Amino acid sequence: MKINSNFSGISLEGGLYDIFNKTLLLEQAGKKIIHKEIGKPDFDSPPAAKEAAKKALDEGFVHYTSMIGIPELRHAIAKKEKLSNGTVFDPDKEIIITAGACEAITCALIVLFEPGDEIIVPSPYFPVYYESAVMLGLNIVEFPLSIDNDFEIDTDNLRAAVTDRTRGIIINTPSNPTGKIISLESLNEVANIARQKDLIVISDETYDQFTFSGAHYSIRNLNDMQDRTIVINSASKTFSMTGWRIGYLIAPARYIPYLSKAHQSFSTCATSFAQKGAAVAFNDCQDFTKEMVKEFKARRDLLIDGLSKLEGIECNKPEGAFYLFPRISKLGISAVEFCDLLLDHGLAIAPGSAFGRSSADYVRMSYACSQEDLREAIDIIGRVIDKL
Ligand SMILES: Cc1ncc(COP(=O)(O)O)c(C=O)c1O
Repeated sequence: MKINSNFSGISLEGGLYDIFNKTLLLEQAGKKIIHKEIGKPDFDSPPAAKEAAKKALDEGFVHYTSMIGIPELRHAIAKKEKLSNGTVFDPDKEIIITAGACEAITCALIVLFEPGDEIIVPSPYFPVYYESAVMLGLNIVEFPLSIDNDFEIDTDNLRAAVTDRTRGIIINTPSNPTGKIISLESLNEVANIARQKDLIVISDETYDQFTFSGAHYSIRNLNDMQDRTIVINSASKTFSMTGWRIGYLIAPARYIPYLSKAHQSFSTCATSFAQKGAAVAFNDCQDFTKEMVKEFKARRDLLIDGLSKLEGIECNKPEGAFYLFPRISKLGISAVEFCDLLLDHGLAIAPGSAFGRSSADYVRMSYACSQEDLREAIDIIGRVIDKL
């Protein structure tokens, strides 16, 4: 059987979901695991959203919806975007509700790029950018970031990385896996480069609500950027609704018919009753998100405090999302070995190599687990380091 040769660029093992599956198997075998490898908030979804979805089911709202999503959800997102990010768009012409942000990312890549096109991605990055692009025959050009300058984009180097074949750039702020919020100054520079070199910008703002210090800005709102930016976002993290599969993209109206075609092939429409629940979440559940973010900030501080007392772990203080991306090269073992050792002790974290080629010396720790589990995790890391 012949497999699409583009897949030769994708490793089928060692990715995030393999690690997650491995931990599930260990749990099935009776081992207790603290999950810090996967990016899903550990909160229930807002009760009001659940009630609305249940009501929709009971009322028989179980069929295809408008392909671009139900109007009440599109309008609720328009309200949220304006209020939170100052992003103004036409909810009838410039948005598609997708089956999660992942679908939105893949739709954007398939519509806006052609095989052979280069897309620059600051690295480390959310792995779906790379994998979707490679499946489509696009060339991801990794632009390395380092903890040495707090994972800030060096815009001079970014400009130098643009070639004749570069067609786009993907940015993610606040970032998975670093928690970095791209500064307004850097965003302005990225926007200048995009305008001068005629690049499309895919701006993944999935963690826009998860800010602890510093503000999140959308590059779409900088001068003339609206016409070349696709904003990606989701209910997954904002309302702890990862399993509902509700995401969205905001794009210039002229791209929507093409993006709709791609969306039709992938999912036709997002799940009908999940859209009803998400509309209530975006309209009414801001307090839920605020409470969750407050808890994440406390967890970030707890984890940083604990790790800073351990030898060999270099950690910065991210302003957003719910991840730490410490460098561990001073421990003298590889990140993969370190993760394996921790897993033997019941703690799952992800090696940096799952997030790009420039991150083999790093590990990603999600703090989407209880403060009690975080304390135990710090304990385990300390014990493992002591034995090295
Ligand atoms: C940066 C980023 N973008 C997109 C996604 C995908 O979100 P969704 O669950 O809405 O597909 C994630 C999930 O972890 C993410 O971290």
